[in-house]
Amino acid sequence: MAVRWWQEAVVYQIYPRSFADTDGDGVGDLDGIRRRLDYLAWLGVDAIWLSPIFPSPMADYGYDVSDYCGIDGVFGTLDDFDRLLADAHERGLRLLLDWVPNHTSDQHPWFVESRSSRDNPKRDWYIWRDRPNNWVAAFSDDLAWTLDDNTGEYYLHHFLPQQPDLNWANPQVADAMHDVLRFWLDRGVDGFRADVVHLIGKDPAFPDDPVERLGQKRVGFHEHASTHDLLRGIRAVLDGYPGDRMMVGEVNLTGAERIVAYYGHGDQLHLSFNFDLLFAPWDAKVWKAILEDIDAVYRAADAWPTWVLSNHDQPRHRTRYGSEPRARAAAVALLTLRGTPFLYAGEELELEDGVVPVERVLDPDGRDGCRAPVPWDSSPSHGWATPDPWLPWPPEPERRNAQRLRDDASSILHLYRRLLRARRASDALRHGGMRMLDTPEQVLGFERKSSRDTRVVVVNFDDAPADFALEGAWHVQVASDGAGEGEAFEGRLAVSQALVLRQG
Ligand code: NOJ
Repeated sequence: MAVRWWQEAVVYQIYPRSFADTDGDGVGDLDGIRRRLDYLAWLGVDAIWLSPIFPSPMADYGYDVSDYCGIDGVFGTLDDFDRLLADAHERGLRLLLDWVPNHTSDQHPWFVESRSSRDNPKRDWYIWRDRPNNWVAAFSDDLAWTLDDNTGEYYLHHFLPQQPDLNWANPQVADAMHDVLRFWLDRGVDGFRADVVHLIGKDPAFPDDPVERLGQKRVGFHEHASTHDLLRGIRAVLDGYPGDRMMVGEVNLTGAERIVAYYGHGDQLHLSFNFDLLFAPWDAKVWKAILEDIDAVYRAADAWPTWVLSNHDQPRHRTRYGSEPRARAAAVALLTLRGTPFLYAGEELELEDGVVPVERVLDPDGRDGCRAPVPWDSSPSHGWATPDPWLPWPPEPERRNAQRLRDDASSILHLYRRLLRARRASDALRHGGMRMLDTPEQVLGFERKSSRDTRVVVVNFDDAPADFALEGAWHVQVASDGAGEGEAFEGRLAVSQALVLRQG
């Protein structure tokens, strides 16, 4: 089967509030993103995914949508969006939007109607019950049900009370949400990231969770068969459009077998996130086990893997791993694995989580640190239209910023760029097979091979140099620390060093 663009692409996640501000309100905006497209094209990513930009009361910073077919004023207008999309396409960058199918905002007109009376035509668009079961919501230890005084019934919300779950068992809801997809597909977007999409099908009996799961967040283990039918309906909408539109789902479950089920047989999600590395320690044995598991399970299911080290919900990997050399080595691995990598804006600048004082914490789940604004230059406002953005700057913005690192050919930013170029130029890295190599315990090694070329990637997870002999003659194409690029590989890896090797 022909290789599809989303298999070869590297996707760059933008958290719009924190990317680039042009109007001086301290919150990033669409025009800010548009003005940085040249940077992204220079870097060499293929697609961008924007976290939600739709009108929202921002109880969950945009994951509580009050109008799926508009743009929140803080980010700009639909015209701004059309300009951004056109300019992205002009540079060969694809654009994905964040579609939030499981829940709306409680301010969405659908919910306002639904809660207005028990016999409102939209009552059944959400999930109302006389009595709650024992399900627990995310971000709290409270029940996932809130009593609405007006009508004396409880509504379901897997997340905040301000995020009521839609009732996808009602075909009108599915139709309305398909129309939302069409609205953006008609405008020309290349696809979507679908928020907690494994939650949309619900067990109509709403059974209590078993005792052993009492008090656990439901989000991590909710699976109902009806979700798969719903996904087939969603896929049919995308397939009705030319241009190979794509959906990557946030199937927030553990276990590769459980996740690949959501790819169906090429008739559900194109891709699903796989958060294994996001939660893995910096440990070669753990990484090796994950890579082997994912490769085997996904291959058997004919599903294409994805890889993520950081996003807007978890501490950044530079913070988790604790050093720049490790962050560099991780970049080498991430961009050479078999599967579609997702970068989180700022990781190419070695950004760490911002240190957010208690009085400035805004997020209901305390995820502010990884959402610190991206610094663009060394000036006091770091390329933003104000020196005081909505969250504090991440550490060392005067050094870790795009302009400064772009001027330094030895920087991590240039490493990302070299890796992205190497990937673009190599069939093996983009879509070749992957074979794990027999390596010393502290070293991760794998081969990528296509009919046209072969690469070997070795990563030393240790804080001491490691020896690793390889049969045949190899030379260093990319080194995480830049050392020895273009020279013969001598069988030794420096501390926390990773290499992409080329035969010959
Ligand atoms: C997952 C998103 O990544 C997260 O930011 C959000 O809070 C929840 N889904 C709820 O929409």
